[in-house]
Amino acid sequence: MRTTADSPEVQIDSFLSEADERSLANDVLDGLTRPFKEIPPKHFYDARGSELFERICALPEYYPTRAERQILLAHADQIVSATGASELVELGSGSPEKARILLDAMSRAGTLRRYVPVDVSQSALEASALELADEFEELSVHGVIGDFERHLARVPPSAIGGAPRIVALLGGTIGNFLPGTRRRLLREIGRLLGPHDRLLLGTDLVKDPAVLEAAYDDADGVTAAFNRNVLHVINRELGADFVPDAFEHIAFFDRRHEWIEMRLRARRPCSVLVAGLGLRVEFAAGEELRTEISAKFTRPRVEADFRAAGLGLERWYTDRGGLFALSLARRL
Ligand code: AVJ
Repeated sequence: MRTTADSPEVQIDSFLSEADERSLANDVLDGLTRPFKEIPPKHFYDARGSELFERICALPEYYPTRAERQILLAHADQIVSATGASELVELGSGSPEKARILLDAMSRAGTLRRYVPVDVSQSALEASALELADEFEELSVHGVIGDFERHLARVPPSAIGGAPRIVALLGGTIGNFLPGTRRRLLREIGRLLGPHDRLLLGTDLVKDPAVLEAAYDDADGVTAAFNRNVLHVINRELGADFVPDAFEHIAFFDRRHEWIEMRLRARRPCSVLVAGLGLRVEFAAGEELRTEISAKFTRPRVEADFRAAGLGLERWYTDRGGLFALSLARRL
C-alpha cells in the first residue's frame, strides 16, 4: 500500500502494484490462448483510455451518461433523504460529475462527511479527489486505487461507526460482467452494506438495437479508438507488438443475451509477439477478440439479480425517455 496526502482532508491508498501488472499478464495469457480470444474491459482504462471514455460520455450517440445524470439531478435529494447518508462510496468512480450531484444533495441535507472513490485509474481518481475536496468544505476524501473485483475488503469502514452510507456503482458498469460474475459481485458489494446502508446501482436498459449499436459505434470513431486502446496498453505494459490499426472496431447488440458486445477483428492475418510473456499469438484474417460486454437490463432482471445476491430493490428511478435506471437496494 502507498498513501499520498496532498492535503489534510485527502488520503489516497493504492493497492495496485506488480500484482496488477500480473493481472493484465494473467488476463492476456489466459485470454489470448483461448479458442475465442478475449480481454476483460477493465484494461481499457489507462490515462488515455480514461480520457477517451470521457469523450465517449459527451458524444451525441452515447446517451447513458446524460440519462443517468438526468435521474441523479431529479432524485438526488430524495435518495439522500431516504438514506440519511453521510458517506458516499463510489466503485469505479472515474470522473467527478456523478459523485458531485450526490455530494451536493448530502451537503444541502447537512449530512455530508466523506467520499470514498474506488478506481483502477490513478490519474482519474487523484484528479477528482482533489477537485471535490476543494469544492466541499466539510468533505474528507479517502480514495482507494484498486480493482473493485479484488479490493473491496480495502474499502475503509464508515468514518462514524454505523452512520449510513450510499455505496454506488454507476454508469452501467455492472453490465460489464457476465451474469454469474455479476451476481457474485453484487453479493460481495452487499457485504459492505450495514442495515442502514444502501446500494445505488446504475443500469442501462434494453431498447431499440439501432440506438444501442450507435452508442457503441459513434460517427467520430471515438469508441473505436477506445476499443483499440487496449492493444496500446498491452503493447506498453507487456512489450507486445500489436498494430492497432490492423484491427477493426466491431459493436453489435446480442439479442439473445441482451448485451452489447465489442470486438476487435483482424483485418489480415497477424502474428503478435507478447515479449513480456514470451508468447506468440496468431490471428487469422477476420478473427475476433472480444473486449467488452455491456449488458442491458429490464426491471425484472435487476430484481432477479438482486434477489440472487441477497439484496432487495427499494426504489427504481428512470429518466423521462426510459433509457437508463437507478436502483436503490438494501441487504436482505
Ligand atoms: C463504463 C462500462 C458503463 O458499457 O457503456 C462505453 C463502457 N464501452 N463505450 C459502457 C463503454 C464503450 C461503458 N461502461
